[in-house]
Amino acid sequence: MEKMERNAPCWCGSGKKYKHCHSAFDDRLKRFAAEPYPLPSRDLIKNAAQIEGIRASSKINIAVLDYVAEHIRMGMTTAEIDEMVYQKTTELGGIPASLGYNGFPCSCCVSVNSVVCHGIPDDTLYLEDGDIVNVDVSTIYNGYYSDSSRMFLIGAVSEEARRLVEVTKKSLEVGLQEVAPWKRLGDMGAAIHEYILQNGYTVVREIGGHGVGLEFHEEPFVSHVSKRGTEMLLVPGMVFTIEPMVNMGNDAIFIDEEDDWTVYTEDGSLSAQWEITVLVTEDGYEILAY
Ligand code: MF3
Ligand code: CO
Repeated sequence: MEKMERNAPCWCGSGKKYKHCHSAFDDRLKRFAAEPYPLPSRDLIKNAAQIEGIRASSKINIAVLDYVAEHIRMGMTTAEIDEMVYQKTTELGGIPASLGYNGFPCSCCVSVNSVVCHGIPDDTLYLEDGDIVNVDVSTIYNGYYSDSSRMFLIGAVSEEARRLVEVTKKSLEVGLQEVAPWKRLGDMGAAIHEYILQNGYTVVREIGGHGVGLEFHEEPFVSHVSKRGTEMLLVPGMVFTIEPMVNMGNDAIFIDEEDDWTVYTEDGSLSAQWEITVLVTEDGYEILAY
């Protein structure tokens, strides 16, 4: 950690003097230096102006998902959902973050039934009675990124599929109980994992959440199968996603060889996911995008 002169402007970019800004924070952080798990680097700690930027981006992300919620219908194609996301995002002044990201061709991911995540919108894939559908939206606004996803139930969804979707949503609340400054990120993932296993489902291990805000994907990787007391220390100003993928069968997945994106459950069982963007505050957390 680079030492700072007490009257110099703080490294966080707030414009305040270091002694009135992150000086006490740095002293507190130092006490964790001997622990074997990572500390957040300074570029992961957002200042007030950056948080405002991410908040504004999140507002668009929420509005886009609200719009999808109002208009999603049985008989629609997943490409029509993508079109809605593109139109609404740009109407509100945003850019869909997934469009062109590592070659991804669309403005959102739409993942139906046994698709775990990263489903590519498709004009031949129609939403059918009983489907469970994840729509994953991410926005760039004024250079700031936000990311969240929701599940939608199409027509008459079976009781067991409905329960998978509900338990997955509830797992976010369980995880959030563990999000507070000076705790370890691993506590959050452990809480989600335990809750999901208790309910008879499994959690995808290879794919997780991520820091977000100044870039689409920042450190840390956010596991939803982590161990308590491990992983990165949480501190005020960190922003990351929580986005567990929960399978009705076992946790094994595979990626479509043709498109190199679509992730499926190996056993063909249903999978659900909800995603939020969360800020670590001075005394807990704040949900920015949902
Ligand atoms: N919002 C998702 C995530 O961050 C999807 C990534 S967008 C894609 O995990 F372009 F990679 F598909
Ligand atoms: Co994400």
